[in-house]
Amino acid sequence: MASTLNHVAIIMDGNGRWAKEKNMPRTYGHKKGSENLRDLSFYIFDQGIKYLSVYCFSTENFNRPKEEVDFLMNLFVEKFQKEFKEYKKKNIRVVFSGRRENLREDVLEAMDTITEETKQNTRATFNLCLNYGGQYEIVDAIKKIIAEKVDVKNLTPEILNHYLYQDLPPVDFVIRTSGEKRLSNFMLYQSSYAELYFPDVYFPDFDQKEFDKALDVYFHRDRRFGKIEEK
Ligand code: FPP
Repeated sequence: MASTLNHVAIIMDGNGRWAKEKNMPRTYGHKKGSENLRDLSFYIFDQGIKYLSVYCFSTENFNRPKEEVDFLMNLFVEKFQKEFKEYKKKNIRVVFSGRRENLREDVLEAMDTITEETKQNTRATFNLCLNYGGQYEIVDAIKKIIAEKVDVKNLTPEILNHYLYQDLPPVDFVIRTSGEKRLSNFMLYQSSYAELYFPDVYFPDFDQKEFDKALDVYFHRDRRFGKIEEK
């Protein structure tokens, strides 16, 4: 039985389908998803979980209609500027993973402000993956390693981890809502030994009760990390 849960990563999928089922625009689903993320993240941190990573926007998401991309970017700015002050109060450090290029200046500014304001916080870390791609993250890490002339003879998985967008502990549990069973380029390096869980609910409906179910699944998993079963 798994005994600890340090780092949870969530692929927040199904906002669009959730809205469509209600005959509402996709953007309404994103708004509801963002409201759910607020409540759910506080609940997760209240469980004593130290690291939460969420997939907010992939590098590929820029291929969506401009109207949807603009809506999401405006939503990020609004939330980071206002609601995210709550993470500051709750002693949670907010960090971002992803490429800065192609992001609007006001988005970058809102990201930088909340990062700066929470950088001393110690209770937990909230990692938002925005303009993020897992393969690019590894490529960008390798570029940094080359630029810094790191002695590659001594390169280890731990050292490479240090050059990722954020030097975070391994992901223990990946949850992808909406029933889709793919990683879609999300935290590929960090999730090497993660348990995977694909609940059949759209993200706006993935609430505290659903998270409790997920915890129950996780703590009944047998995590062996490549070793044989201990008797
Ligand atoms: C995937 O669902 C979801 C996204 C691409 C956006 C996720 C963003 C949020 C939940 C808002 C986060 C807000 C803040 C402030 C961090 P989809 O649109 O692909 O759904 P579908 O597969 O049903 O179309």
